[in-house]
Amino acid sequence: MTSADAASVPFSPIRWQDDTLYLLDQTVLPDQEVWLRCDSTELVADAIRRLVVRGAPAIGVAAAYGLVVGLQESPGEGSLRERFRQVSDILRATRPTAVNLGWALDRGQSRFDEVAEASDRQTVIQHLLAWAKKVHEDDVATNLKIGEHGATLFTEGDRVLTHCNAGGLATAGYGTAIGVIQSSWEAGRLGQVWVDETRPLLQGARLTSWELKRLGIPFRLVTDSSAGALMSRQMVDRIVVGSDRIAANGDIANKIGTYTVAVLAARHGVPFYVAAPLSTIDLATPTGADIPIEVRDEEEVTDVFGKRIAPQEIQALNFAFDVTPHDLVTAIITEVGVLKAPFGESIRRAFETASGG
Ligand code: MRU
Repeated sequence: MTSADAASVPFSPIRWQDDTLYLLDQTVLPDQEVWLRCDSTELVADAIRRLVVRGAPAIGVAAAYGLVVGLQESPGEGSLRERFRQVSDILRATRPTAVNLGWALDRGQSRFDEVAEASDRQTVIQHLLAWAKKVHEDDVATNLKIGEHGATLFTEGDRVLTHCNAGGLATAGYGTAIGVIQSSWEAGRLGQVWVDETRPLLQGARLTSWELKRLGIPFRLVTDSSAGALMSRQMVDRIVVGSDRIAANGDIANKIGTYTVAVLAARHGVPFYVAAPLSTIDLATPTGADIPIEVRDEEEVTDVFGKRIAPQEIQALNFAFDVTPHDLVTAIITEVGVLKAPFGESIRRAFETASGG
């Protein structure tokens, strides 16, 4: 599939084509590469809920295009402004933890407010589409910068462990944690990657492995419970993960199991890095305790690919994310540089830098 409309990026799981949104269906990777046409608000919302598109930055970009899709649908009763509010509310309710979703919707609202009064319906939609494409392209540029900054932390031959998938699939392209890994590899500073499989939905086994294989970066897939054994045998030099939301004090929410890895890293003196754009940092959330954690369907734990693995009529608990306190984080790698403790202070300065201060 080629498209002049596709953002000019190395690889993106999100495309605007034939005047609508296409998402690479991550639920069926790596077996199949299927692009889903999402030409209604409900299809975009469903895609976010089901993890067709997933990873905090990618969810934000999909939601930006989702606003356009929603405005393109038959407006029905009411004004375009009411329709915008309706679509935004539906998308906002899809997943609670990744702050990039609300970040994109809030910026979409500001863009809408700027153009809505003076323009007709079609012109408003065109303005919103141009804005969404910019969000898409900016995310890639941001990740390339994160990669550059992150690579400076690596030394030749480093063996790096990552959890979940924070690669091109989880962003508009290039990736945060995988972007750092890719930049380090290209700079000749990476030996090998350990990929946690990431139960229950196996984003590591299915998606990170798929990406690293495509990139030609050497890696080995391990069970989540191998992290301690690898570290105790001095087989891990660094850890780099992404994040769904970073609180103002530097506490980070990421895929369930990240906290376990961070505790092990502290125990074994392994640097623990978090790679994320400033759009993942939520200054309105003071600490990790204030981050809403998504609880997903029990069946994701009791079943594997539609097959029951646990006895019938038992209960499971499926937190999708956990919170790693900032004192376990060695550095947060952003597009404006590498932030270190005290994070409250370095985060504040990073925002000043980004706004030209
Ligand atoms: O449930 P998911 O697959 O959306 O969770 C994704 C993660 O936890 C990622 O590590 C995070 O969103 C950062 S992606 C650059």
